[in-house]
Amino acid sequence: MNNRDSELIGGMLAEKGYEIVEEEKDADVILFNTCSVRQHAEDRVTGNLRKLAARKKKDPDLRIGVLGCMAQRHQDLLLKEFPQVDIVVGPSNIYDIPDLLAKTDTTEKLLAVNNKKRPGKKIEADQRSGVFSAFVNIMYGCNNFCSYCIVPHVRGREVSRPKKNILNEIKGLVDRGFKEVTLLGQNVNSYGKGLTNKITFQELLEAVNDIEGLRRIRFTTSHPKDARKGLFRAIKELPKVCEHLHLPLQSGSDKILDLMNRKYKYEDYKEKIALLREMVPDVGLSTDIIIGFPSEKERDFEATERAMEEIAWNSAFIFKYSPRPPAVSSFLKDDVPEEVKKERNTGLLNLQKRISLAKNKTMIGSEQEVLV
Ligand code: 5AD
Ligand code: SF4
Repeated sequence: MNNRDSELIGGMLAEKGYEIVEEEKDADVILFNTCSVRQHAEDRVTGNLRKLAARKKKDPDLRIGVLGCMAQRHQDLLLKEFPQVDIVVGPSNIYDIPDLLAKTDTTEKLLAVNNKKRPGKKIEADQRSGVFSAFVNIMYGCNNFCSYCIVPHVRGREVSRPKKNILNEIKGLVDRGFKEVTLLGQNVNSYGKGLTNKITFQELLEAVNDIEGLRRIRFTTSHPKDARKGLFRAIKELPKVCEHLHLPLQSGSDKILDLMNRKYKYEDYKEKIALLREMVPDVGLSTDIIIGFPSEKERDFEATERAMEEIAWNSAFIFKYSPRPPAVSSFLKDDVPEEVKKERNTGLLNLQKRISLAKNKTMIGSEQEVLV
């Protein structure tokens, strides 16, 4: 999602005559499009900003911006403690960036963080970092409020883009030679809610599938509580939809899932995967796991290890828990020691590596369609 936002920002600035340079030292404007999902991502930004302080002193014409979720979350901190920063712009305000940059000569620091509904805007100089595969936003924000997650707090409530805009964007991409799109949303299964023309995610997939010249459709991310037979049928029946589902489990322990406010139990997840595999036998599966959530005991972690063995995802992203105020879990004691988090992280990574390798080996000698 951030990559896509960066493309949009690049496009808007290109319309104003800015150009991307390869080396940071050659840039007159440096924009950090930030992520707040874990502390580590934010630490890298503050580290980079500190490094730029000296250059900004020598070169006051240099413009530095902090954009995205961290700008939304830490607007006060950025304004007070980082005098080198000129503009601070939240994810709902990215369309203001060119104007704000134009004004930095007259005003000291500029802030745009209204966190309201994000307006849609067609950008003529549509920049894409890829040449055959592109990201396409279908919705913004999230209403789920998983207890650990900062996203609803910084990206605001869920808003779906109208089908027409999405289809037009994809048709434009196909005309430019793109073969594959990845539809983006924090929770794609609830696509369509709140739109005047009622539509479900499956219906959107059907409409995208009908676009001539497009070869592949991917999407991310689905929430297990909302992933149902209709979605699985779309994966099975629509020829362009890739046989892959990224379905974050987060934890194999029902106690932890409950504390995470995920609204499903491990057994529900397992049953859904069994149904999907019955319908689409060779489906590729991936997941996200958080280890070290507050009060995660050895037996909770073992439940996650067991889940990994049982489900046998093709790949898994594993994250160490990181408290994100004002997300609700940040009020729980972050009581799993760092060494234990590290140990569990490494343990799970090794287990997944073993499973991924075994799964990959079963494909040796098989015939697969590959996008080159
Ligand atoms: N700590 C660790 N991992 C997190 N994620 C989201 N919030 C946190 C957090 N506070 C992970 C989840 C999510 C992925 C994008 O990032 O696993 O699915
Ligand atoms: Fe965060 Fe949960 Fe929404 Fe995903 S579904 S963005 S983890 S609140």
